[in-house]
Amino acid sequence: MQVGLRQVALSAGLAIALSGAASADVIKVGVVAPFSGPFAIFGTQFRNAMDVWIAQHGKSVAGHEVEFIFKDSGGPNPAVAKTLTQELLIKDRVNYLAGYVFTPNALAVAPLVSQSKTPTVIWNAATSIINAKSPYFMRTSMTQTQVSAPLADWAYANGIRTVATAVTDYGPGIDAEKGFTTEFKAKGGKIVDTIRMPIKTTDFGPFMQRVKGDEPDALFSFIPAGPPAFAFVKAYTDNGLKGDGIRLVATGDLDDETSLQGLGAASVGVITSHPYSAAHPSAMNCDFIAELARLHPGAVANFASVGAYDGMHVLYRMIEAGGRDGAKGMKAVIGASWESPRGPLTLDPRTRTVTQNMYIREIAKAPDGTLENKEIETIKAVPDLGYPAK
Ligand code: PHB
Repeated sequence: MQVGLRQVALSAGLAIALSGAASADVIKVGVVAPFSGPFAIFGTQFRNAMDVWIAQHGKSVAGHEVEFIFKDSGGPNPAVAKTLTQELLIKDRVNYLAGYVFTPNALAVAPLVSQSKTPTVIWNAATSIINAKSPYFMRTSMTQTQVSAPLADWAYANGIRTVATAVTDYGPGIDAEKGFTTEFKAKGGKIVDTIRMPIKTTDFGPFMQRVKGDEPDALFSFIPAGPPAFAFVKAYTDNGLKGDGIRLVATGDLDDETSLQGLGAASVGVITSHPYSAAHPSAMNCDFIAELARLHPGAVANFASVGAYDGMHVLYRMIEAGGRDGAKGMKAVIGASWESPRGPLTLDPRTRTVTQNMYIREIAKAPDGTLENKEIETIKAVPDLGYPAK
């Protein structure tokens, strides 16, 4: 199978070489993301943010025209992601890869990326181990350990002493549980229950009942961003946890800006941790949001938007330095620092994930009556804390 891939790639390369210089200036980037199904919002957010980047920086870099080829992976479908990536590498002969929302999808393409030596910029998938699976992976989103440890510090500093955890039972959920639990226990806090919820769960009632019985000071949670967030927050309120004074502290996947208004007034006071809030008060973020609104009226910015926007930064920088020489491109960007709408970023040479500020946010009513992720604390320059030591 792997030899087959190399052979096909080789003969396709020969064909291109023989066909002359017509396409020599076009650098191709394959983008794999959900563009249909329940998680299609990720694809929309990616494309909108790419449009902002392109409006600001153009579609050619150092004399190369950049062509993007989109492939729809749907949700967590490793087999589909693998087939689509194979297609991009062999048929479309892309020079770079980007996107990848779900951890199982990113893990599934690691061998292809390594074998073809294709620099691949992950715009979302957030389990630490992914980047250890291929030296060609870079990540402009976050990892769940990076997000959760600062939240545990905040919880302890704010009087929370007992916590029940409830996370979606796959890579990022398990990392989030580990990141929060390790830090919270180190501070002196107590984990009173550890719940892992199947990825397809839509009825969170039974888990909420269990947590209610645990009577903790707070419930910590990770669920992937998207429609389940509404059901989760509703179950938290409907089952009386909010009424009992059990605080909800979660990763910001729960209340990203594409879901936020739909969470309703019951969500006011929920505390989340994440690398980006649309309410981040910087000039660069204001410009980003203004350009997004100009190009796509009614669109909102969320963490996926900046994952893609900064992903474009990494791609353009690689193309500028290396053209179609991916190794040269990666050399130029790994270790680089730049300013993002979310704050300062550095692509950490050890983990190849961005080191970035984490923001503790409170869901609050903005002056215009809408809900916002109000930043209440900034933890500066947090690296990926979950990357394996060796
Ligand atoms: C992941 O699968 O890594 C993932 C998906 C959605 C999120 C965060 C992480 O919101």
